[in-house]
Amino acid sequence: MPHVAGGADADLDRRDCAQAVKDQAVSENNVTLQKQRPAAGETLLKVTGLVKHFPITKGLLRRQVGAVQAVDGLSFDVRSGETLGVVGESGCGKSTMGRLITRLLEPTGGTVEFEGRDITHLNVAGMRPLRRDVQMIFQDPYSSLNPRHTVGTIVSAPFKLQRITPEGGVKAEVQRLLGRVGLNPEHYNRYPHEFSGGQRQRIGIARALALNPKLVVADEPVSALDVSIQAQVVNLLDDLQEELGLTYVIIAHDLSVIRHVSDRIAVMYLGKIVELTDRKSLYERPMHPYTRALLSAVPVPDPRRRGKRDRILLRGDVPSPIAPPSGCRFHTRCWKATVVCTVEEPPLLALKTGHQVACHHPENHEDLKPGDAALAEDAADGGKVVRTQAPSAAPAAESTTTAAESTTTAEKTAEKAPAKAAKTATAEATTADKAPDGAAEVAPATSSGEAAGKATKEPAKKPVRKEPGAAEG
Ligand SMILES: Nc1ncnc2c1ncn2[C@@H]1O[C@H](COP(=O)(O)OP(=O)(O)OP(=O)(O)O)[C@@H](O)[C@H]1O
Ligand code: SF4
Ligand SMILES: [Mg+2]
Repeated sequence: MPHVAGGADADLDRRDCAQAVKDQAVSENNVTLQKQRPAAGETLLKVTGLVKHFPITKGLLRRQVGAVQAVDGLSFDVRSGETLGVVGESGCGKSTMGRLITRLLEPTGGTVEFEGRDITHLNVAGMRPLRRDVQMIFQDPYSSLNPRHTVGTIVSAPFKLQRITPEGGVKAEVQRLLGRVGLNPEHYNRYPHEFSGGQRQRIGIARALALNPKLVVADEPVSALDVSIQAQVVNLLDDLQEELGLTYVIIAHDLSVIRHVSDRIAVMYLGKIVELTDRKSLYERPMHPYTRALLSAVPVPDPRRRGKRDRILLRGDVPSPIAPPSGCRFHTRCWKATVVCTVEEPPLLALKTGHQVACHHPENHEDLKPGDAALAEDAADGGKVVRTQAPSAAPAAESTTTAAESTTTAEKTAEKAPAKAAKTATAEATTADKAPDGAAEVAPATSSGEAAGKATKEPAKKPVRKEPGAAEG
C-alpha cells in the first residue's frame, strides 16, 4: 500500500506521545545500538529529480485548481560523514526537502535512495526499520516537544516505538543521552516548559540521537535561539558528528551558520538547487548570481571594510511557487538576465570539478583549471551554457571590483571563523590553488565567439547596489 501524504505516519517523530508509547509493547530483546557505518565518503543518500507539489483545491468537491511547487526536481547526494548545508530564502522549499528525504512527506516525483536502497514509496511498516538510521531535528524547540510529556518520555519514545530496549535499560540510556547533550540526567522527570530554548533544542537532539542514526536532517536547528546559545548547539552538533560518525543535512538561512558547519553547500531558490559545491568554493568563488547576492548581504565584522563592499540588493520579492517564472526562476530578479534566461531553464551542470551551477551566464567561471575547462566546454557545446559579450566596459569593471572585494571579505571572515579540523579535506582540495585575482571577468566573452554569437543580445541589467558613500572605483 502506498504511503499516504499527510497520513497518520506523516509526523511520526512528533508522535512521541503517550499514545504511541502506550499502544506499543516494549520487546524484551536487549539490543546494542552499535551500527556498521558506511566508509567516509561513500554515498549514503542519493536524491534524483525530487518533486513535491502541494495541490491547491477549491469547492465542495475539492477540485484541484493548481499546485504549490515547493520542490521541483532536486538532485544531489550526501556522502557518509559529511555535512551538507542547505541555504536559501524563506519559502524556497528547504523544510519540504528535509521532510521528503526523511520520508515524513510523500514525494510527487523523483527518487530517494538510502544506502543504495530505493525508499521513495516505502509504507509505514517498510519505513520503521529505517527510522533507526534517519532522524530529524526540528526547527522550533518550543513546538517540537510535547508539553505534556516529561523529558524522559520524550527521549525514550524512539526506543518504545521501535520496540528496542538498550543495554542497561531505557532510563539509563536516556540519562546517558541527556548527559551527552549537556543536560542534567537528573532532569529526566522535568517538563519541556522548565527548560530554556537552547536546552529544549538539546532535548530534541538527544531524541534524534537515541537510536544512533546514520543520517540526521536538522531543519534550522539554531534559528530560534539567540547567538550565544546558537554557538553552543552548533558546537554540540559538531562534537557529536566527530564522536559518532554522523552524517548531517543542515538546513538554515543563516550563511554564517552554514559556513561554519558545512562541508558542501546547496543553494536553493524557489524549489530548485541553483548551486552546489564545497564550502570554500562557494564562499570564495560563487558562480550563481543569486549566491553572490546572498553572500554580499552577509554582515562584515571588520568596520574598516564595511564601507568598501558593494551590496547587491535584489529587486522585488521571491515569486510565488504556485506560478514560478518561466526559464530560469531567478530571472525576474537577476541583473544578468537575458532573453534566453526567460525561456530556457538552465540545468544544474558541473562547470568545475565538484562545482555545479544552474545559470546561463555564471560568475567567476574564467579561472577554470585545464581539466575543468573541458567540463565547461562540454556544457557549452550542449547549448546549455550561453556566454555573452559583456554589455559595456563600465559595468564589467564594476562587477570585477565587486567580485574581488567579496573574495577578500570572505577570506577575512574565514580567518575569524572557528577552525574546524575534520571538515576541510574535500573542501580545500578543489580550489586551494586558484589564483585569487578576479580581474578576468570579461575573458570568457571573447574566448567563445561562436557561443557569444548565439547568445541573446538583450542588454544585461545592472545590479542594484547600495553604495555606502564611497566613490566608485
Ligand atoms: N503542507 C503544505 N501545503 C501547501 N503548501 C505548503 C505546505 N508546506 C509548505 N508549503 C509551501 O511550500 C513552499 C516551501 O515551503 P518550505 O516550508 O519548504 O519553505 P522553507 O524554505 O523551509 O521556508 P522557511 O525558511 O521560511 O522555513 C512554501 O511556499 C510553502 O507555503
Ligand atoms: S544569468 Fe540568467 S540563468 Fe543565470 S541566474 Fe541570472 S537569470 Fe538565471
Ligand atoms: Mg523551513
